[in-house]
Amino acid sequence: MYGPQASPQAPVRKVTVPEIRARKEAGPPLAMVTAYDYTMALLLDEGGADIVLVGDSLGMVVQGLPNTLPVTVDEICYHGRACARALRRAHLVGDMPFMSFQASPKDALKNAGKMMKDGAFEAVKLEGGAEVAPAVRKIVQAGIPVMGHVGLTPQSVHAMGGFKVQGKREDDADRLIRDARALEDAGAYAIVIEAVPADVAERITEAVAVPTIGIGAGVHCDGQVLVCYDFLGMFRGLRPKFVKRYAELGDAVVEATRSYVDEVQRGVFPADAHSFGLKAVSDKKTA
Ligand code: KIV
Repeated sequence: MYGPQASPQAPVRKVTVPEIRARKEAGPPLAMVTAYDYTMALLLDEGGADIVLVGDSLGMVVQGLPNTLPVTVDEICYHGRACARALRRAHLVGDMPFMSFQASPKDALKNAGKMMKDGAFEAVKLEGGAEVAPAVRKIVQAGIPVMGHVGLTPQSVHAMGGFKVQGKREDDADRLIRDARALEDAGAYAIVIEAVPADVAERITEAVAVPTIGIGAGVHCDGQVLVCYDFLGMFRGLRPKFVKRYAELGDAVVEATRSYVDEVQRGVFPADAHSFGLKAVSDKKTA
C-alpha cells in the first residue's frame, strides 16, 4: 500500500513562521532544502529539514530547461500538493514563478492566493528587492507569509548576463542591504540570499531582524538552502562552487539500474522471492 496511511506515526509539531523568525536569535541555523515530489519530500522531512521549498529550479532539475523562466503557477502548485502530502514537520514554501508577481501587487496577491489554495503551501517566496516590496506588502496584508530572495535572482538571468555572483562592488553590496531592509519593512518573514560574497551576506544578516537563508552566501547567514538534487549528487548539469555533495546518489542510481537491466536480461530477476505462488494469491489476495 502506498501513501501517508502506509505508516501511521505519532503526530509531529510543524515548523511555523514564528518559530522560523525566532531561530535568528535562538538558533540553531535553519536547514532548508528544495523538493518537488512526495517520495523525496518524505525522506527530506525524515532527515530533519526545517523548510522545504518547491523552487522554480524545478524548471531546470525536473523539466530539463536551461533556466527557470517558463515555470508556471500551475506547475508549482502540482508539485506543492505532492510535497504537502509528505511533510509532517517541515514548513512548505512555494516559489512564485517569473511574471506571477512582477506586473502588479494585485496580480501578485491573486497568484499567491492561488498557490496557498491549490498548492497547499504555507508561505510563498518571491525574487527581487525594493522593487517588489509593494507586492510583498500586499500579499502579507492578506495573511500570506512571504519569504524574500535577493542577490542572484535566477528569474533575472538575462538582465544579469548569466548566473553570476552579485554584490561584489561596494555600491551593489549597499543596494543589496537596502533591498533586504525594504523586504523586511514590507513584512517578509525570512530572506534568501543567493550567490553573494560571504562578508556582504554577513552585513545583510546583521542589517535585518528576520532570518537570512544563504545559498552560496557563506556561513554567516541564519540558515542555508540547497537544491536536493545538488546536495544528493544527482543533478548532472551545472555544478556551482557553493554546492557540497553529501552523497553521490546519481552514481548509485546508474549502478542500480545497470544491475537491474543485467538481471532482467539474464533472467535472474524476478526470483521466487519476488513472485506470487498460486496459494499465496488465493489466501491473501495481495501480500
Ligand atoms: O528555485 C529554487 O530552488 C530557489 C532556491 C535555490 C533558493 O530559489
